[in-house]
Amino acid sequence: MLIFILEIILLFFLSIFFIYYIFLLPPKYPQNIPAVPFWVALIPFFKDVDQSDIFREYIQEPLRKHGAVKLFFGAQWNVLVHKPQYLQEIFKDEDLFEKSGNQKKIPHSVLSQFLGDNIISAHGQDWKTYQSVVKPGLQRNNFEVEKLVKNAESLCGLLKDAQLRAGNGGVPVQEFLQRYSVANLSEVVLQTEFDALNSLNAPINVLQTAVKREIFKPIFMNFPVLDRFPFPSREQARKTVDRFRNELKRGLVESSTKANGMSTDGLGRRMLDARDSGTWNEKQLLDNLTVAFVAGQENPQLCMISTLYLLAKHPEIQSKLYQEILQFNLGQPADDVLDPEVLQDMPFLTSVIYESLRLFPPIGQLVNRHTSENALLGGEIMIPKGTYVGYNCYSTNRDPTVWGENANVFDPARWGDNTVAIQKQYRHRRARAEWVSFHGGRRACLGEKFALLQMRVTLVSLVRKMRWGLDPTWIDRKTPAGPLYPRALRLVFESREKQ
Ligand code: HEM
Repeated sequence: MLIFILEIILLFFLSIFFIYYIFLLPPKYPQNIPAVPFWVALIPFFKDVDQSDIFREYIQEPLRKHGAVKLFFGAQWNVLVHKPQYLQEIFKDEDLFEKSGNQKKIPHSVLSQFLGDNIISAHGQDWKTYQSVVKPGLQRNNFEVEKLVKNAESLCGLLKDAQLRAGNGGVPVQEFLQRYSVANLSEVVLQTEFDALNSLNAPINVLQTAVKREIFKPIFMNFPVLDRFPFPSREQARKTVDRFRNELKRGLVESSTKANGMSTDGLGRRMLDARDSGTWNEKQLLDNLTVAFVAGQENPQLCMISTLYLLAKHPEIQSKLYQEILQFNLGQPADDVLDPEVLQDMPFLTSVIYESLRLFPPIGQLVNRHTSENALLGGEIMIPKGTYVGYNCYSTNRDPTVWGENANVFDPARWGDNTVAIQKQYRHRRARAEWVSFHGGRRACLGEKFALLQMRVTLVSLVRKMRWGLDPTWIDRKTPAGPLYPRALRLVFESREKQ
């Protein structure tokens, strides 16, 4: 009996050692960068944490000192890069550091079923085929600004009503901003109607909330191997994913049949045409439609949350923005024709947006490239072929060696005081990979133009109608894992019309 117990104990320790050796022991290469202990990735399972604290405590110092670290994420070891020069190299050599998203990394996962093979994660000829359809649809010069303004006015109304219901308390803003960014993306970019803003219970809202809840469970994000097992909750998640994708396609097809529903150069029409002409198959349509929807509304939504948070913490910057709006004669809510060229010329508005995106890039960390050959990053870090490589924008955008000692401070004035100077600095910072919120090179974000236009319209519409502050009972914390932004933000709004 004793021998049997000893055997069990031995087996137990051998299994632990085996798991540690195979999965958790940092790889030997690259040799000259440190590894962040694997258990750092597991902290959010055991403690209710703010991930910006985790970053500061365990990752920032080695990452900044060495320019890159080995990081355990998604149940494997990766190289996470911080140093702008290294990022420039990665952005430039698209074939050596090739895109390799979840469809390649974890094809069996629910996440991969959700987003499939798409323009963001594909490489080579597949990417070119996707890009030829998507790029012209996103880089139009004729997005319907009136629709954005109309939605922004509705958002103001919804927030005002919510504030009345909340009395002196705060309004949880994320739900409203989610519906608002879904409405903007679907109506203006895809030219598809889902009634997301006005109807809380519209199928797209219900399904999106369900997908987010079911897909992004930290245990499955960190250990995607678990998706190989038929857990009932994961079978349910797969069904929700299919329903969500089908609802997107239903909306798109239905809107395309309406008279004047879609313009020929819009993204929605272009995607359907690509399917009908045989350029894309049905699955490619669904995969790319889903990723355009997710990237196109989730990132602006997070940008809005973080910007409202920063403006709430800095009432003096909110007031300065209001002064600029008055200066440009856009103070009256009745001025509902906002000219994109005028908006683009408002220096302080532009700096506020660039500065918010600097401090809180919606995609703060992303690991979706792998080396197609052995690579010598910066001529010094040897990364073996087949290693996953990612970027930490949150860290790069706050690097004190390029942004100065006040790199963590919200200071829009650092961008300059006139449009020419601000845009010059923007181009310079991006070219040097010191500001990487849209990443860079050939694979930089294609939705930047729309995202910035939307942010401009949103801020002008909100600031000219109201001012806001943090709900004093809200605890100032960032999300525990996933995208990094203020968690469950609550704001108190006050109408400017009162005075
Ligand atoms: C503030 C808002 C946004 C931010 C911060 C953002 C950020 C990014 C980043 C960092 C990437 C590169 C991802 C990678 O390296 O794998 C990217 C790619 C992309 N984004 Fe955005 N994005 C935003 C809004 C949008 C919008 C509104 C759309 C419109 C649908 C969009 C469409 C795309 C597409 C299609 C790509 C893939 C480009 C390619 O690989 O060819 N994004 N975005």
